[in-house]
Amino acid sequence: MFVMFRRMRKCQRVQLMTTCLVLSVVMVCWEQESAIVNHVKSYSYRYLDSGFLAINKSLTVTREQARAFSNFRYLLNNPDKCRDRDVLLLLFVKTSPENFERRRAIRATWGNETYIHSSLGATVKVLFALGAIRTKANEPSWTKRNAAVFQKQLVEENDLHGDLIQQDFLDSFHNLTLKLILQFHWMHRRCAHARFFMTADDDIFVHMPNLVRYLGAASSGDVADFWIGKVHRGAPPIRHKHSKYYVPLEMYQWPIYPDYTAGAAYVVSGEVAHRVYHATLTLNASIYIDDVFMGICGNAIGVSPQDHVYFAGEGKTPYHPCIYSQMMTSHGHVEDIYELWQAATQARETGSGLVGRLYCTAMKWSLLCKPWYQETYSCRAAFV
Ligand SMILES: *[C@@H]1O[C@H](CO)[C@@H](O)[C@H](O)[C@H]1NC(C)=O
Ligand SMILES: *[C@@H]1O[C@H](CO)[C@@H](O)[C@H](O)[C@H]1NC(C)=O
Ligand SMILES: *[C@@H]1O[C@H](CO)[C@@H](O)[C@H](O)[C@H]1NC(C)=O
Ligand SMILES: *[C@@H]1O[C@H](CO)[C@@H](O)[C@H](O)[C@H]1NC(C)=O
Repeated sequence: MFVMFRRMRKCQRVQLMTTCLVLSVVMVCWEQESAIVNHVKSYSYRYLDSGFLAINKSLTVTREQARAFSNFRYLLNNPDKCRDRDVLLLLFVKTSPENFERRRAIRATWGNETYIHSSLGATVKVLFALGAIRTKANEPSWTKRNAAVFQKQLVEENDLHGDLIQQDFLDSFHNLTLKLILQFHWMHRRCAHARFFMTADDDIFVHMPNLVRYLGAASSGDVADFWIGKVHRGAPPIRHKHSKYYVPLEMYQWPIYPDYTAGAAYVVSGEVAHRVYHATLTLNASIYIDDVFMGICGNAIGVSPQDHVYFAGEGKTPYHPCIYSQMMTSHGHVEDIYELWQAATQARETGSGLVGRLYCTAMKWSLLCKPWYQETYSCRAAFV
């Protein structure tokens, strides 16, 4: 009896020590805000639903105050761009004045409206959203002159293509939310009949044939709460002062953001876009991370995003025909966009038949299901 007791005690001691060890590891992780702990935090927060109601309340401002985020003069506009009756998709590309080459590449590839219309049978409107060229008041006058020359170049570009929407706010990283609001306001005013709205970075590749097919099918179903992209769930605000995404407590006081889709590219239905527009009329938009602001809007109108495994976040997708035949968007493409477009528009069947499907699953599995974290499609994409 006594021996057993002693053995049990020993057992318990080991247990106690293990528990302590685990706890200290957890505490260290908590300090460093590791991904796992953030998940636990976010899920516990999620159950306190009132947390999200409070976010909405704390960021609500009067219409007068909200107007400060949208009340900018148009420097370039194409009010009649959406005249066509049946517009499947209004696609806004977030660009900056200096990115002439990227816009040229997009127009010649996945943003070629003529091609989309004639070969894919859909009306898609591609517009570029941008702010004003940077000049600081204290800079020497030659930079101001340069800016004037530069703006003239934009006017010429717009005369040629008629697809720039530019407002008079400084085009900068910290003004991206203003650029997003511009897009929803423009749609509300000029393209409210488009069935879908999409916003995308200018270094993204969009597999337009796949996207058009997908949206065409989706539009015949229920799109009341349609919002898809690569979803970030329970992401915490970054509080390190040196991060590009630093958000001070005064700007956002809660431990996690509402669910949102990576700003690289996402799609909402026209109906959701309409409601987001209304949300922007009463929200404080000083939080400058535009995709997070979209999450706040979604929270305010009670719509949550759905994950689509073939929408990219930060990552560039490894090239393989099996992945390629299913992809929607991939991030970080500039030089290779022409080759990708060529591959996308060549009618080639990949992964058909049982053997083809098995082959593709194996290939996708080997490329996407790595034991370490990679910023590309998730492993789940291998099995759809
Ligand atoms: C867009 O597509 C059309 C039809 O396929 C083609 O004729 C035209 O050259 C393309 N535009 C550009 C800029 O490549
Ligand atoms: C955003 O744009 C406004 C209007 O041009 C400007 O006053 C402000 O400095 C810009 N903010 C940032 C962070 O660039
Ligand atoms: C909006 O939020 C910022 C902090 O991010 C705050 O300084 C500002 O006063 C708020 N605006 C209104 C109108 O409440
Ligand atoms: C968010 O706040 C607005 C304005 O106060 C309100 O109209 C809306 O219903 C709120 N949304 C939710 C989900 O509580």
